[in-house]
Amino acid sequence: MSERTIKLTINGKLASINVEEDKTLLYLLREVMGLTGTKEGCGEGDCGACSVLLDGELVNSCLVLAIQADGKDVITIEGVGTEEHLHPIQQAFINVGAVQCGYCTPGMVLATKALLDRIPQPTEEEIRRGLSGNLCRCTGYQKIVDAVRKAADS
Ligand code: FES
Ligand code: FES
Repeated sequence: MSERTIKLTINGKLASINVEEDKTLLYLLREVMGLTGTKEGCGEGDCGACSVLLDGELVNSCLVLAIQADGKDVITIEGVGTEEHLHPIQQAFINVGAVQCGYCTPGMVLATKALLDRIPQPTEEEIRRGLSGNLCRCTGYQKIVDAVRKAADS
């Protein structure tokens, strides 16, 4: 498969990267850029573990080719808060106990960010719709909904 050079912004930093045309954005982030906070679950667009923001839109990075991100702005979980200063959404997830194994959490946080950027004070139905593409095997969804509501109020 032939390679192409793409230029994109990842978490605010401009990058110029050679990538094979058939590789996904998920592959680029994890295997090339070492941004392993973005998780691989199903690999088929069904679980949301690989969620990132692409020009502000929530996408499943396993379904996006890396070359489709050429010229775009990508935000991964590494670009949301820092270890010292968690983003209010991350803090809300911790405070209400919405994290167990944590595998879904990066995707949930990105989905929440996309939702609150669009609708700062969502209803419960809007929250559930906003997170409907993100699956969690551990935590009750009610805690996750509570975390989103808390984040909206912070
Ligand atoms: Fe991409 Fe499941 S790994 S949606
Ligand atoms: Fe384990 Fe959601 S906390 S999958």
